[in-house]
Amino acid sequence: MREWYRAREGRGRRGEGGPARHQPFRPRASFFIFPALDVWTFCPLRPAAAPAPMRCLAAVAAAAAALLPAGCQARGQQGSQTASGCDPNMPRDDGVRVKEFNRIYGKWPPKISLPGKEPQRETKEWLNYHRKKEAGLMELTDHTQRWEFWLEQAQIRLLKNFTETGWGQGHMAKKTHKKVLDHFRKSLPELAKKSNHSIPLYTTGEQVLVNLPNDLSQEVTEVARLKIAEWAKVDASTLEPTSTYGIQNYWKGSTLKTHVDRVETHILSAVYCVDSSYPEGAEPWLMETDPDVTGVHAAPRARNVTYPDPCLRGHASEAVDVKPGELFFYESAKLVHGRPTTLQGDYSAHIFIHFRPYGWSFQNVDRVYGVPPGFNGAALRDKQEAVEL
Ligand SMILES: [Fe+2]
Repeated sequence: MREWYRAREGRGRRGEGGPARHQPFRPRASFFIFPALDVWTFCPLRPAAAPAPMRCLAAVAAAAAALLPAGCQARGQQGSQTASGCDPNMPRDDGVRVKEFNRIYGKWPPKISLPGKEPQRETKEWLNYHRKKEAGLMELTDHTQRWEFWLEQAQIRLLKNFTETGWGQGHMAKKTHKKVLDHFRKSLPELAKKSNHSIPLYTTGEQVLVNLPNDLSQEVTEVARLKIAEWAKVDASTLEPTSTYGIQNYWKGSTLKTHVDRVETHILSAVYCVDSSYPEGAEPWLMETDPDVTGVHAAPRARNVTYPDPCLRGHASEAVDVKPGELFFYESAKLVHGRPTTLQGDYSAHIFIHFRPYGWSFQNVDRVYGVPPGFNGAALRDKQEAVEL
């Protein structure tokens, strides 16, 4: 078994995305290896600057892989139906994987989106952005990182698109916002004394979770469901809630690297800004997309910020100021998102709310078979010989 297929289940980041989580954070080894599926909040596979951090990530990934129990090793999802129609079991080797890729897609980039196998509706700007990004991926010489980036890339390129830009803005219901804000403000004086945590590689700074009472959590979820449905132009009854986290409070100095969320569960989502505090003249902590699904970075009421990355980026990110009481809607498994700038305020508090359409069939194994055969190009093979991967 090639290590590429190791531990494809049960991974994810916590916090802004990832599996339902109302318990204190317990990082798992796989968390560090398969970030494209968002558990927490932010993906290490998209470092703001490439080479040195990538080498660091590779070392962490390798160390974490060594810690994985055998039970975490690649297992297929027996009997399940995949969105692409691929074998629900993980491939036993790359030859099997490539054969299946050729049967389903034939070539890269894919002409169909999943689920549904509808024709892709990619704009010229989106295509150009990804052509450049993928050229950067082929320059990666670390075996694990290149595979992980390509998994994320297969997810982004294959996943169907629901809205024109992939993101939008709205407001939490005033009555609900007042209840949530009151709850948070009551907790605030004690927060600094609670056990704060940071997530190496994904975040800088510290954060702390404020749990919501169940009835309030359900109310937030229901309001978000209606608002997201309106934004995405879908019937609210078709949206299955998959997770509503408590209030994640970030302290001054925090950064959240950009990433995409779990493709099995985090499809149409909202970030709800509960509260924040900024000293006079401080810059807002902007929510960013990189890019949006048009491939363009028009920001209607926010400034554009450029984060040049010699390897993976070449565009300005979309940057949006989400104020207390406001919602940021996003296609969270397709749209790369995060808050990569440093929080200048004293704190910023958010709730992350995720939905997927009922009957959702996109599985992790779809991504595995969706990575194009050419990902393992000459540059990587040369390095493999040198480092004996
Ligand atoms: Fe996320």
